[in-house]
Amino acid sequence: MNMIDGIKERRSIRKYKSDKVEKEIIEKIIDSAIYAPSWKNSQTARYVVVTDKSVKDNIAENGTLGFSKNKNNINSAPVLVALITVDGISGYNPDGTPTTDKGEHWQSFDAGIACEAFCLSAYEYGLGTLIMGIYDEKKVADILGLKENEKVSALIALGYSDEEPKAPKRKEIDEIARFI
Ligand SMILES: Cc1cc2nc3c(=O)[nH]c(=O)nc-3n(C[C@H](O)[C@H](O)[C@H](O)COP(=O)(O)O)c2cc1C
Repeated sequence: MNMIDGIKERRSIRKYKSDKVEKEIIEKIIDSAIYAPSWKNSQTARYVVVTDKSVKDNIAENGTLGFSKNKNNINSAPVLVALITVDGISGYNPDGTPTTDKGEHWQSFDAGIACEAFCLSAYEYGLGTLIMGIYDEKKVADILGLKENEKVSALIALGYSDEEPKAPKRKEIDEIARFI
């Protein structure tokens, strides 16, 4: 697929087929996302791939801050990926002090780049994704048994799409770009 087409045609998918997603395909998607750029090539993105229905149900029920749309999104998808950031590396010096005045900004920035690489790669493999930012960080971390230095950067629903949503309206170039 042409890269520009992929960037423009990928959509957030909120309705999935129940078809299983093979582990090999998920590994290929992650293998692509590994090539996302990161602060000093620190590669702090981690992927916890949840296919166990009871774990997924637990996150949908107890980890979505009562936001029923995300509960439904997670229930619909056969796979839920927690995109994790290893805390305190990206944007920081080896002694733990922040390199810039932006603090935690760069680790979220890296996670966002990795997230888009993951979603575009999934799209190339014929799979739909939905990035979710509305979740209960602590509950999700507890359910997944994350380590002290791991933070949940986003949840990503993954599966074969059962809908063909239109692209939500985008802004025009002259609304978002200034040439000086
Ligand atoms: C950081 C981030 C958080 C998001 N959180 C949610 C969410 O919690 N629930 C949801 O349904 N969609 C969520 N979305 C999806 C956006 O609504 C979607 O990307 C946007 O409307 C554009 O649609 P498109 O992805 O189909 O182009 C999120 C997207 C991003 C990038």
